[in-house]
Amino acid sequence: MDNEKPQKFYITTPIYYVNARPHIGHTYTTVVCDTIARRQRMMGVDTWFLTGTDEHGQKIERSAAAAGCTPKEFADKVSGEFRALWERMKITNDDFIRTTEPRHVRGVQAMFTRLQERGYIYKGEYSGQYCVSDELYVDAVGPGAPCPECGRPTETVHEENYFFKLSAMGERLLKYYAEHPEFIRPETRRNEVIAFVNSGLRDLSVSRTSFKWGIPVPGDPKHIVYVWLDALTNYMTAIGFGSDDPADQRKLERYWPADVHMIGKEIVRFHCVYWPAFLLAAELPLPRSIIAHGWLLFEESKMSKSRGNIVRSETILDTLGQDALRYFLLREIVFGQDGAFSFDALVQRYNADLANDLGNLASRSLSMIARYFEGEIPYPSAGARTPADEAIVKLAQQTITNFHAQFEQYQFSRALETAWSLVAGVNKYIVENEPWAVAERDDRDSRARLATILHTSVEALRIVAALVHPVIPEATARIWTQLGVGDIRKFDLRQLAWGQILAGTKLSKVEPVFPRADKSMIERMQQMEQQRSEATHSPTGGEKDGAPGEKPQAARPEPRAETQPGAPPSSPSVGDRVGLRNYSGRSICAFCNLSE
Ligand code: MSP
Repeated sequence: MDNEKPQKFYITTPIYYVNARPHIGHTYTTVVCDTIARRQRMMGVDTWFLTGTDEHGQKIERSAAAAGCTPKEFADKVSGEFRALWERMKITNDDFIRTTEPRHVRGVQAMFTRLQERGYIYKGEYSGQYCVSDELYVDAVGPGAPCPECGRPTETVHEENYFFKLSAMGERLLKYYAEHPEFIRPETRRNEVIAFVNSGLRDLSVSRTSFKWGIPVPGDPKHIVYVWLDALTNYMTAIGFGSDDPADQRKLERYWPADVHMIGKEIVRFHCVYWPAFLLAAELPLPRSIIAHGWLLFEESKMSKSRGNIVRSETILDTLGQDALRYFLLREIVFGQDGAFSFDALVQRYNADLANDLGNLASRSLSMIARYFEGEIPYPSAGARTPADEAIVKLAQQTITNFHAQFEQYQFSRALETAWSLVAGVNKYIVENEPWAVAERDDRDSRARLATILHTSVEALRIVAALVHPVIPEATARIWTQLGVGDIRKFDLRQLAWGQILAGTKLSKVEPVFPRADKSMIERMQQMEQQRSEATHSPTGGEKDGAPGEKPQAARPEPRAETQPGAPPSSPSVGDRVGLRNYSGRSICAFCNLSE
């Protein structure tokens, strides 16, 4: 009886390539999903949050060869680093899928067979150019021509391939987009996808024969499944697709279709054209929405190790901590657009919003209660609210409504601005009402006034903490503990309203939540990055990766449509898949696979 169960919510990150160690670009997507998943759980929704690693394909095979190990050893190492980082950051993913796991292999083979059985797969010959770095067929160009996506020389490929009849799917896709306006977000991406499909779809090669690192095609093991068909299917294999186990089948039934596939904008068409086309052909339900965010830029370009502008999340975790990083990513970057990262901006945001605004509100309201009321939340004077008190109550109520509405529209930055307008409002209220001066007056009315001011302040603090808990989980949990109101993780956010804090509640020990960062912190973080990048390029440093999303030249252009086998040269191109720097004709750093 599905409708008796609590509402469900299934959210995924892209699975990250293992040819690159995690950096804050990856962290951005994961943190956005983690924040959404945490909030859904706080709203009483049965939530499943998936992330993982994408481990097959020619570039991983070559990356491993360059590093002198097997693809599996290579994948084990880097996949382990992603997993360790998410564990360190206390990311609340419910599962972590690796495409080398048997459950995934089995599921991809089941998907391939399903497509075959329904007549959507046929055998053919591909003869043309291929960009290994982007794992992209580049049609209608001659040998050695540059990849339209990354500019690297393409390789000539002549091989027998299986093809998927993508050309048969155009009308059905367009109809689906028209009937499901929420399917692709934001609107700009939706329009791009519609234009791409309108320009005509050609059949897509979905197997490779010239290398081995992949999932064998069922019944024809000299073919391996094209890495994108393999990778996209993870969203289903992780929850049981392809398994006979009844528990897996129940899970699949419960959580599929996914509610949100969160992706970076460069992989929109793989998710919004190929994935739904595969699912329609396989007669499987489509995900409810695919949401594309922008890129994290550093010094105005997409992060790129070849430009030396990669930032590791660890540097920030080691200094300011995970809440600072999470807050920055969600507050500073307007979701859906590109946003700049800099250590200066990070420290400035941290000091202004966290150490000053929220940190001060918490420490002064809590310490005054500790000082003037022996650590017990005082009773507000009944019926004696001043207009200033009323204004805070109203502001808090509006904040709850607006925060929820903005968050649900993925306007994280605006939602946080809304929460911080309450923080600013209460800080101003405290300054204007001077509780410290009221405390000096030794009469009953002043005592009642002092109680009201402090009660009002901590109630607003509790509300802010509950709202922003999914964004800054550690600090808000500490604020709740100090307030003595219990375990914030058990709080039902749907119930949040003014007036729930109980007078008489005993505070626990009051401690600063966000110590101020001084200027030297910026230098320290820059030095740490410098040392990390030197270690990367030293023979003993051991990092053997290329950064995803980087280009050796200037900042990346907007993604264009992928050239499919047989597509006309004028068709827009998709792809924008980058990563391995190990391509012919350029010299490669032996330790990180970056071209020098
Ligand atoms: N393996 C594919 C995805 C397959 S999903 C079925 C892939 N992997 S990737 O390692 O290149 O990761 C891409 C994703 O990482 C982006 O879509 C985005 O979510 C995230 N980002 C990597 N660098 C980023 C930035 N600089 N800025 C924002 N997000 C970034 O593509």
